[in-house]
Amino acid sequence: MQGADTIQAEIKKICREHFGEADIIVRSPGRINLIGEHTDYNLGFVLPAAIDKAVYIAIRKRPDMEIHLFAANLNQSYHTAFGSLQPSPLQWPDFILGVADQLTKAGYALTGFDAVVMGDVPLGAGLSSSAAVECATVFALNELLELGLAKKEMVLMARKAENEFVGVQCGIMDPFASMFGKKGQVIKLDCRSLEYAYMPFEYDAISIVLFDTGVKHSLASSEYNLRRQECEAGVAIIQKKYPAVQHLRDAGIDMINDCLIGGNPLVYNRCKYVVEEIQRLQDACDDLVKHDLISFGKKMFETHDGLSRLYQVSCAEADALVTMVRRDAAVFGARMMGGGFGGCTINIVKKEKAQELINRVTKAYTEQFGQPLKTYEVSIADGTSLVM
Ligand code: GLA
Repeated sequence: MQGADTIQAEIKKICREHFGEADIIVRSPGRINLIGEHTDYNLGFVLPAAIDKAVYIAIRKRPDMEIHLFAANLNQSYHTAFGSLQPSPLQWPDFILGVADQLTKAGYALTGFDAVVMGDVPLGAGLSSSAAVECATVFALNELLELGLAKKEMVLMARKAENEFVGVQCGIMDPFASMFGKKGQVIKLDCRSLEYAYMPFEYDAISIVLFDTGVKHSLASSEYNLRRQECEAGVAIIQKKYPAVQHLRDAGIDMINDCLIGGNPLVYNRCKYVVEEIQRLQDACDDLVKHDLISFGKKMFETHDGLSRLYQVSCAEADALVTMVRRDAAVFGARMMGGGFGGCTINIVKKEKAQELINRVTKAYTEQFGQPLKTYEVSIADGTSLVM
């Protein structure tokens, strides 16, 4: 695996060879989420953090209105021009073009640019490599062209790029975590007001271990959108009796029971999970204040059970990975992470036992699913920044 310094030196060199000397280089990390899953688009809370795996973009101004891109990890080039920004068949350019498109629509005067993108955020592992590219791009263009955007505006631009240009209806968590991450801290984000607070999550004796199922089931995006609709359907019913409820964030479990029992059981289960998860996150934050990782970890397992049974966004591989660690005394908590149907599980583990656990689970996973398990030990790192 490459270290941050190596990637930085390499991207600089690649940019020089491909396009000429980079004007600036920006780093934007992937993210984990400790607890608070599928709560962002219900305007509840999330508890993500940026990690020490990141996307880098080396960028330089062009004298014309063209955009020339090179993805170093894929060894692929793409070019287009402002005025004809369309999603590309290669897909990866869309995260960059989508941001350029949003900035243009917002009325910013842009000029053409060359950019190399490169990084070590595993693709398709649910660590938000796409949000990392979008945040890197908007941050880089903001610096390069002196657009004067504040960080929150950049986060909103990144999300709009994903929603409108890439066409994925994700929430605010991923770009927010990438942009606002802070070393050793998780971010308690209120997804309605976008107010946030950092909470320390730095323990010498703890490792954050990710087990990558290596699968991305094709259901992921259609089921994600369906969950959003099911939550909205629940809100529409609750609203008839409690007009103040605009999102599930506003509902309590009593309202869910009052209005949704006896109706569509799927809508009831989805809404019950979300309302419980929003409360669980608040309680988990109290645990963190008390440094009670045992209680925090139990809540992670509860989240997994809710995601698996009520929200039904887990999969056999993620369920198995959680089952494999559930009774291990070295594991405080574990759960599937992100949108679901694949990606990683996140495990909070006693550091001294981490390698032993990784070995055991890797063996068991390979035996059960006939494919290797990719594992990552990550640490909590700073968010998007200029590195050169
Ligand atoms: C995906 C989305 C996020 C969030 C999670 C589930 O990662 O991009 O906005 O909704 O799923 O918590």
